[in-house]
Amino acid sequence: MHIEVFGDQKRASQRIVDLLTRQLRAYPYSVLGLATGATVIPIYREIIGRIRREQLSLAQVRTFNLDEYMGLQDHDPHSFHAFMQHHLFYPAHLTPNQTFFPFPEFSQDPSGYDRLIEQHGGIDWQLLGIGHNGHIGFNEPGTSFDSETHVVKLTENTRKANRHWFDGDWHHVPEQALTMGLKTIMRSRTIVLAAFGASKSAVLAKAVYGPVCPELPASILQHHPRVYIICDQEAGRLLR
Ligand code: F6R
Repeated sequence: MHIEVFGDQKRASQRIVDLLTRQLRAYPYSVLGLATGATVIPIYREIIGRIRREQLSLAQVRTFNLDEYMGLQDHDPHSFHAFMQHHLFYPAHLTPNQTFFPFPEFSQDPSGYDRLIEQHGGIDWQLLGIGHNGHIGFNEPGTSFDSETHVVKLTENTRKANRHWFDGDWHHVPEQALTMGLKTIMRSRTIVLAAFGASKSAVLAKAVYGPVCPELPASILQHHPRVYIICDQEAGRLLR
């Protein structure tokens, strides 16, 4: 694991986008795995800034999002589709034929999403956040390391953690989601996990130094040959 701690989110985001730029210079047709959530917002902002300054182009990439709530329409403002459209796809000029999500297409055949990823050559560069319980994607504690894309029942904790995207009421957070599995994520050639803020410090230290076990899904990343853990000082305060 390459662990890098930066003074603040902005510098950490710049480093992540440097890594992405390097990837795209070498291979402009890269397949990107993308996440949603608060962590990725400054990263997507940095990407957009560089596109506007003509230092980066996503024109040739294809993207696969990690997850999506079940039951929300694409245009529902709470959907991850809408999040991606707003924070990245629209300002980066990505078109719908470049961008893929597990829901709604794969709700009846989740492993079809893994097959589609493989048909596109596999994920070259996967961006991840981490949940307070160690989830990556929506792979909650206890998820099998052998899991591919599947339907998950979200825990009350995760629904509560995501309530601010749903006008503060966790009951409005859908009960189920479709997510890439841990095996899907581990097949990515390069993985970049971002973590910002003091509330992520304990789980990040466990993921990096603790035992590799399904109770802490992100710990599986210790077994991946090419992982970057990029965090700000607060999230990284327990890292040596
Ligand atoms: C979202 C996702 C989640 C988030 C995680 C962290 O697509 O896959 O695993 O990365 O819940 O969320 P934030 O960044 O909001 O703390």
